[in-house]
Amino acid sequence: MEFFYMSLLGLFVSSVFFSLNFIFYKNKSSSSGTLPPGKTGWPVVGETLEFLTTGWKGYPEKFIYDRMAKYSSKVFRTHLLGEKAAVFCGAAGNKFLFSNENKLVQAWWPASFDKVFPSSNQTSSKEEAIKMRKMLPNFLKPEALQRYIGIMDHIAQRHFADDWENKNEIVVFPLAKKFTFWLACRLFVSVEDPNHVAKFADPFDLLASGLISLPIDLPGTPFNRAIKASNFIRKELVAIIKQRKLDLAEGKASPTQDILSHMLLTSDENGKFMHELDIADKILGLLIGGHDTASSACTFVIKFLAELPEVYEGVYKEQIEIAKAKSPGELLNWEDIKKMKYSWNVACEVMRLAPPLQGAFREAITDFIYNGFEIPKGWKLYWSANSTHRNPEFFPEPLKFDPSRFDGSGPAPYTFVPFGGGPRMCPGKEYARLEILVFMHHLVRRFKWEKIIPDEKIVVNPMPIPAKGLPVRLYPHTA
Ligand code: HEM
Repeated sequence: MEFFYMSLLGLFVSSVFFSLNFIFYKNKSSSSGTLPPGKTGWPVVGETLEFLTTGWKGYPEKFIYDRMAKYSSKVFRTHLLGEKAAVFCGAAGNKFLFSNENKLVQAWWPASFDKVFPSSNQTSSKEEAIKMRKMLPNFLKPEALQRYIGIMDHIAQRHFADDWENKNEIVVFPLAKKFTFWLACRLFVSVEDPNHVAKFADPFDLLASGLISLPIDLPGTPFNRAIKASNFIRKELVAIIKQRKLDLAEGKASPTQDILSHMLLTSDENGKFMHELDIADKILGLLIGGHDTASSACTFVIKFLAELPEVYEGVYKEQIEIAKAKSPGELLNWEDIKKMKYSWNVACEVMRLAPPLQGAFREAITDFIYNGFEIPKGWKLYWSANSTHRNPEFFPEPLKFDPSRFDGSGPAPYTFVPFGGGPRMCPGKEYARLEILVFMHHLVRRFKWEKIIPDEKIVVNPMPIPAKGLPVRLYPHTA
């Protein structure tokens, strides 16, 4: 199947190359000399293949660092996903993009996203994201988040009892995904029954992998399967929404129990409530964005702790002290989370070296000058976590795992950006912090572990994961 897609791609690239050669050279000669340095690669596909394949080989930073060295450490020109693009690098590049949202730039997603996430009311994913941002703070505000800690603890206990205990060997990534997905289903739509959760899990996998595939909508392609999966999940969500409406009307559900109740009961500035399909779309987006990222982070926590016994010991000591101070059956709470300082430093260092999202796109909404170079309106602009996270200018000895980088005031502004920055910074950051810490608490309390494949390859597509899912041998603590 893979061969089929590669051949299709090859055919596509060469036919486009010959038919558009003329246009390409015409465009090239008309461009002004003040554009950022760089090359635009092949017509239409540009440098997309290099961009993607460095990730597939496990070195997404190579695409960025090669070009920073060759052209400019500040900004370089390229051509990605069919679009003229510039990659903004370093802390200054991050700062510029993050602080010019809606002034010079705005968020941008490839057109394929709108096909997989068709909005029920025919607006674009861009407009829907703006609505989503307005909706989320209530669900993710500190008081609400503090309520979720006990629920996260309860789900984590069930998860570890069902899937980890009494096993000698497990594969980490699918289990980490199972955990974060179960949590998201419980906290977003109050679906807690593992069988009901499992019914969603497969279509979600199809959806996630189709989103980043070639956007070819033919029977059997990953993109086509993603569209079908998206339709299936939306139907299931609508059924849940209809039931919830009844339950709310009959007083069987609470207005504050999850984001679904919140969306059903909140009107916009004109007093209009959201349509059922609209709510289904929003929840679908949240479920996608909110569980794959955190499961990648949890997986890499396990990988690094297996490789670094002294770091494991530090996390173990911190978590065991917290556990000892609890009475039997008492759930974790906000006070406990505040004590998990070293564990969070470790998680941050994990996300510095293996950021779950590599970066994100913006679109220039006007012509502007950056660093002396012209950025034309309509160009797509990319910020990349890797341009700072592995840069010795900001993180000396960048490949060394050193959680103390996050002591005190931590890294310099705009250098550590796993959650982005500015007005579009990930709204789920605190939620993610809680779920990762609760996961680490249960993990180290129960086990030590070792990797079964010592030098397992990492694949970044688009999230980093060990190629075989990180199989480990578990050693339960005896005391
Ligand atoms: C370790 C876990 C996570 C990481 C590393 C992460 C990272 C990011 C990043 C880098 C962005 C893009 C910012 C940009 O466009 O510049 C983003 C956006 C977003 N994230 Fe997260 N995220 C995580 C978990 C979550 C969770 C748990 C949720 C939901 C509860 C969530 C919801 C969102 C949403 C809705 C957006 C879009 C915001 C917008 O477009 O304005 N994320 N995230």
